[in-house]
Amino acid sequence: MTRTYDEYKGIIEEHLLDYFPTMDSRVDILRKAMAYSLEAGGKRLRPVLLLAACEFGGCDYREALPYAAAIEYVHTYSLIHDDLPAMDNDNLRRGIPTNHIVFGEDMAILAGDALLNTAMEVMMRNLTLHFDNHEKLMNCVRAALTIAKAAGVTGMIAGQVADVKNISDNVDSDIVDFIDSNKTGALIKAPVIAGLRIAGVKKEMILDFDIYAENIGKAFQISDDILDITSNPETLGKSIGKDQEEGKCNYAAVNGMDAAKKELNILTENAIAALEKYGEKAEFFTDLAEKLKERDH
Ligand code: IPE
Ligand code: IPE
Ligand code: MG
Ligand code: MG
Ligand code: MG
Repeated sequence: MTRTYDEYKGIIEEHLLDYFPTMDSRVDILRKAMAYSLEAGGKRLRPVLLLAACEFGGCDYREALPYAAAIEYVHTYSLIHDDLPAMDNDNLRRGIPTNHIVFGEDMAILAGDALLNTAMEVMMRNLTLHFDNHEKLMNCVRAALTIAKAAGVTGMIAGQVADVKNISDNVDSDIVDFIDSNKTGALIKAPVIAGLRIAGVKKEMILDFDIYAENIGKAFQISDDILDITSNPETLGKSIGKDQEEGKCNYAAVNGMDAAKKELNILTENAIAALEKYGEKAEFFTDLAEKLKERDH
């Protein structure tokens, strides 16, 4: 089954809020704050990758939907917290005011916490459906663990710590690589691997896609850093020039714009090369790597 990016995006958007627990009406503000950032849009790259990887592995995408929703909840929480005054202090996200601007910092912190926790609940609830099928259960446990780990202290959170603690007086290429592969790469690699895990594919395929995803993950952050310099708020949906203003240590800041563009090309080529043996079958992923390199938002 081959679907387009937009088809997967449509599927995930249709089901994104299906997994929300019923919340007490007295805390309806919490549901509203969670839904506000989720419904603001975004590229939905991570859930699209998860659904596409699951189908590439030969499994119906419907099996992967709760995990796709979960990864978008985790990603959206990471953005809500990333925008807080204590972190990047941004007031525009996905083309509309950031969560804390609308709901206040207290509610933005809690909405982020709630999205993260809901993501874990959604995945664990799905696991309970597979108690009578040991193999399926093991595949889904591995997928859930992949996502939980990528969100955590050896993934996104570690990257965010390095990002906020390494400002321009403390720059070097090693730390940039650490930041890129953790704060961003981890949550891009996880859905690819989780989708394949749900499908129960062989280890060799996991290893090939691991290399692919590691490379597109780092490339994605480098292009984010480039766009922060070259784009505009209307196209990007977020404010620009913030990285320099905040003295962020990123690839373009450390190595210059030309080197950043060169590295983006190399990482994209590496990603595509990792899937060479799959030929046309992996076109969705190789085309996506190219498109991400050229993206303008
Ligand atoms: C933004 O991610 C944060 C980074 C990791 C660079 P996206 O560029 O995927 O944001 P949305 O989901 O499309 O809004
Ligand atoms: C954000 O990196 C990464 C995470 C949210 C984990 P950035 O701070 O560069 O992302 P934007 O530019 O605000 O989207
Ligand atoms: Mg940040
Ligand atoms: Mg930011
Ligand atoms: Mg950025």
